Amino acid sequence: MTLPKVSEVHVMRKAAKKAAVSLRRDFAEVEKITITEKGPADFVTAADTRAQSIIAYELGYNRPDFQFLGEESTPNVPGPNGFSGDWWIVDPLDGTTNFLHRLPHFAISIAHVCDGVPQSALIYEPMTDTEYVAVRHGGAWKNETERMRVSGRTILSHSLFATGIPFKGTLTPELHATFLRELSRCMTATAGVRRFGAAALDLVGVAFGAYEGYWERGIHVWDIAAGVLMVQEAGGVVAHLDGSPFTMGRRDIFACAPSIEFSMRDLLELP
Ligand code: IPD
Repeated sequence: MTLPKVSEVHVMRKAAKKAAVSLRRDFAEVEKITITEKGPADFVTAADTRAQSIIAYELGYNRPDFQFLGEESTPNVPGPNGFSGDWWIVDPLDGTTNFLHRLPHFAISIAHVCDGVPQSALIYEPMTDTEYVAVRHGGAWKNETERMRVSGRTILSHSLFATGIPFKGTLTPELHATFLRELSRCMTATAGVRRFGAAALDLVGVAFGAYEGYWERGIHVWDIAAGVLMVQEAGGVVAHLDGSPFTMGRRDIFACAPSIEFSMRDLLELP
């Protein structure tokens, strides 16, 4: 099997590569920005916005009939079941905090979603020129030729998980406490938990079998829309933390290899 030729992938690729040029240039500048007057956070917001404008222009030019949702232009974010028709869902810079702190672990994430279901997706790492593409019923691929598949590990103590650690009050005190309990249980039962700061790449990590599982609360749809399809097309499971099937627009996620699903659910005390 080879990566199917899908015109939306071509459009996403072109948009991501153009935005990556801008992000790479800005990343080089962020090294210097701490010693100028403009604060680094403002600079990174501007970098983010610049990248999104490039992507929005390119996607809109090629598919004027699609709706667009991007992290930097979100007056009205559709809730669950709100994505009817064709949408582009875009995070121009997933891993903003890494970028701000000069850590080169960040990505551009773009998904084409139709009636709430991801059809094709592209995640691109500007600093390593690495591309991940998934096409519904067409597999998940690294750099076009390498098929991605989830891990087959079954033993929890050999398994590595990824998560997002909530910050700046993104969770209620109850959910904060729940997360700490989950983390503590994982620390004693698994090979480790990673928090690398870019949810799109965490999901890619599940898709290529680096992590057996990933979970996060308080996440946004643009962080995960593309990654969800990567995991599904790599043979993985994606759901919500209350056990319900994944719905685009809900703010929590559970993704894993099927071989570890029940052990991971048990460990996190999920239904
Ligand atoms: C963030 C990253 C991070 C996750 C946060 C997201 P951003 O996205 O994906 O890993 O833990 O919940 O908000 O802000 O860098 O696009």
